[in-house]
Amino acid sequence: MDRQKVIYLDHAATSWPKPPEVINAVRDAMLYDTANPGRGSHAMAVRSSRHLFNARKQLAKLFRISNPNDIAFASNTTAALNLAIKGFVKPGDHVVSTAVEHNSVRRPLEYLKQAIGIKVTYVESDAYGIIEPKRVEEAIVPSTTLVIVNHSSNLLGAIAPVAEIGDICRRHGVKLLVDGAQSAGILPIDVEAMGIDMLAFPGHKGLLGPQGTGGLYIHPNIDLTPLLHGGTGSQSEAPEQPNVRPDRYEAGTPNTPGFAGLAAGVQYILNESVETIHTKEWRLTQLMMEQLSAIPGIQLLGPSIGQQRTGIVAFNLEGAEASELSFILDQHYGIAVRAGYHCTPLAHASAGTLEKGAVRASVGCFTTEEEALALIDAMKEISVHYPVG
Ligand code: ALA
Repeated sequence: MDRQKVIYLDHAATSWPKPPEVINAVRDAMLYDTANPGRGSHAMAVRSSRHLFNARKQLAKLFRISNPNDIAFASNTTAALNLAIKGFVKPGDHVVSTAVEHNSVRRPLEYLKQAIGIKVTYVESDAYGIIEPKRVEEAIVPSTTLVIVNHSSNLLGAIAPVAEIGDICRRHGVKLLVDGAQSAGILPIDVEAMGIDMLAFPGHKGLLGPQGTGGLYIHPNIDLTPLLHGGTGSQSEAPEQPNVRPDRYEAGTPNTPGFAGLAAGVQYILNESVETIHTKEWRLTQLMMEQLSAIPGIQLLGPSIGQQRTGIVAFNLEGAEASELSFILDQHYGIAVRAGYHCTPLAHASAGTLEKGAVRASVGCFTTEEEALALIDAMKEISVHYPVG
């Protein structure tokens, strides 16, 4: 299959293609500005630092963050979530999370249960992946310090009512950490209005930046224990990690060309508007769901047709293995989807697919109707080989 002819429906894993602006920004940064940012006062080092600050500024605009320095860069959402969780939670704490979390939340929590004896409650979702805010409130106990919510499930596409949960957290004096892996650049996010104390986000999915970029917004009232200690280019004479942000959470040389690309990706999103992108992706999911559900033997996962969701459509075909379907789609039709458990056995358990997994097709801001229809046509042909009954 020609590399250029792939029908790419795996945007929930990483977005592709990237806008030319992103590619040019990475290239230009590599050609002209890749000195070590913050580690020298020569002109090229200053230009490198500007790339980082520009990315922070664009992200702050997108997420309505007042101070760009409250954003700590990380290599991906997993690194950001590890910093948030391990840097915040103390022995004896109770954490409330949900039954649609990715392993990037569940595994650090399970680790901390063993390592320092924290307690965790995973609030059940319904079978569509929707979380009732009331259930989150009921799970809060006097020792609860943190609520962690996946803004949108990477399997089911269901959208959590973050603002309502934020309101509950404020009333109970509990902090709210949001996993924005599937929502950053795809759903409107306003950290103040939604009561978000920490927001972990990837650079390489909805924000259209390169892989190896991501970050964590940390409310100014929260002091996390850094995960990494080391050189920051600031207060070099001090033996301790500096208190100044973002340096406190960013030891070591950053991915300057990657963040230059991320700044261009966020600029692209700001120009298009998140609302426009979300509406376009939602329409594509509705088209896919309407037509897939008409194919005998197909079961769709996640919210019903007509309900809110992000650009994710997961499904199974009766009698077929998910991995087999994704192999056929790839090899015979040039369609890239992701099959299996999607690093979220919790969400599969909620949807009742823990035994068999599912095929996940996910759209992005460049996906066309033709590409969505190509998946439908392929599934119609494939389904003939798996008669129902
Ligand atoms: N978390 C990413 C996914 O859902 C990688 O595929």
